[in-house]
Amino acid sequence: MPFLDWVNKNQAKETTREVPYHLLKQESVHGDISGANADNLLIQGDNLLALKALIPFYAGRVKCIFIDPPYNTQSAFEHYDDKLEHSQWLSMMYPRLVLLRELLAENGSIWLSIDDREAHYLKVLMDEVFGRQNFLTSFIWKKSYGGGAKAKWVVGLHEHVLCYTKRLELFPEMWLPPDPEAAKKYYKFSDAKHATRGPYRLQPLATTSMDARPNLRYAIMHPDGHEIWPDKQWQWSQERVVSAQANGEIVIAEKKGKFSVSYKQYLRDPDGDERRRKPYSIIEGHYTQHGTYESMELFGLENKFSFPKPEGLINTILEACTEAGDLILDSFLGSGTTAAVAHKMNRRYIGIEMGDHARTHCLPRLQKVIEGEQGGISTNVEWRGGGGFRFCTLGDPTFDTDGRISAKVKFASLAAYVWHCENGEPGHQVFDMPLLGIQNGVAYYLLYNGALGDRHPASGNVLTHAVLQAINEIFPHAGPKVVYGEMSRLGASRLAAEGITFKQIPYDVKMR
Ligand SMILES: C[S@@+](CC[C@H](N)C(=O)[O-])C[C@H]1O[C@@H](n2cnc3c(N)ncnc32)[C@H](O)[C@@H]1O
Repeated sequence: MPFLDWVNKNQAKETTREVPYHLLKQESVHGDISGANADNLLIQGDNLLALKALIPFYAGRVKCIFIDPPYNTQSAFEHYDDKLEHSQWLSMMYPRLVLLRELLAENGSIWLSIDDREAHYLKVLMDEVFGRQNFLTSFIWKKSYGGGAKAKWVVGLHEHVLCYTKRLELFPEMWLPPDPEAAKKYYKFSDAKHATRGPYRLQPLATTSMDARPNLRYAIMHPDGHEIWPDKQWQWSQERVVSAQANGEIVIAEKKGKFSVSYKQYLRDPDGDERRRKPYSIIEGHYTQHGTYESMELFGLENKFSFPKPEGLINTILEACTEAGDLILDSFLGSGTTAAVAHKMNRRYIGIEMGDHARTHCLPRLQKVIEGEQGGISTNVEWRGGGGFRFCTLGDPTFDTDGRISAKVKFASLAAYVWHCENGEPGHQVFDMPLLGIQNGVAYYLLYNGALGDRHPASGNVLTHAVLQAINEIFPHAGPKVVYGEMSRLGASRLAAEGITFKQIPYDVKMR
């Protein structure tokens, strides 16, 4: 496969491997963060570090990523420096895309908003990181109604939203949501099946084209005994028509001595699910101006954010590929649109923004959402307020330059690192005891911060005979064990007899 090359690409690849792990520092809590709301995070900081900090906890758990990175437009925006050279822009994007991919669920998708300047370079970069086979499409987002009277050559009315899946074969089908107006307009008749199948419309059973199936040309019997022949042929087999007739789903009409045969197409299938067969195409109906008005409503004319995405655009994307409760991530959060929309749609979310507007725009915006703010998509999704989120910044690095674990690392954080390092996935369990979990028959233990409390005089971080006895009494496991601790006082033969592989903190805590 051909790859894109640019100045310092190798350095960009190294950056990906060398980004240090940081702890997240909770600054404040807003609203109710119980249950699923505990995952709602607004993080202020460089997304390279923030994404890496999320890996041990969220790798493979994000259902949908939306990003709207600086477009490299060579023109200074009010809130961020967009004047990156082309190569610098690619080097900025590369390691972030690698980390985003790690965070994405196997059946998840990533949507990238971009304009003509970098769209095609970004496509090739994404092919490299996500795999060409996982490319879904480049949606056209029609961002303006019209205009461009002064344009010299063409007027740019659209931008792109590139869409990649993590694994196309696992990505669920996408259908436009049912349109109640269209249903009212077209489905006008009702019969005894209305309760389950809803109203129906009549569709002609005869086709105007011929295919090679001779068995589609036969006579349908009118109840009064007439034979009705199609001009060309019917769409259905005779068997299917006879069964539909028996079920009262065929309608025969007569006009000036000529018979026409129709079948009833119900709004809902026999299971009661609405017909959703309209696929996505161009994304229409949400304009840049809407985003600007929304921002003005929220922050006033003076403080409005420059070129935020309209809430409706994000709503369309989340509607297409997520369900309530799914986790959404935006690592270029800007004024907080993705987080606000996800919150209103009852999705969980993580938003990362390095600028001051994380505090001046995203934070107050999400607070207003909790209070029931009624702008943007609120009416459409019947938003009434509620929920909550945590506001975090980047804390200390988890490991110092010599690989030592920072004294500030808490048991639960190190446990999440160890679990991820061993199993390649975040632990869904609460890490509050030395037995972290059992995976493929192997039990994983962590002795850290005196997790075994007063059962060991030296705070329980060392694997001694007494600590082993405590482990076997409190957290027995018949199969093989992996024990992480600062030191082991057990000999090789005792470890082997107990089925223990001992790993030393910090040297054996190697990140993936
Ligand atoms: C085009 S704006 C996003 C606008 C957003 N979609 C909205 O609706 O408000 C891009 C944002 O990415 C932020 N950004 C740029 N580089 C970043 C980085 N390395 N880490 C975190 N945020 C970054 C900028 O500060 C800017 O707010």
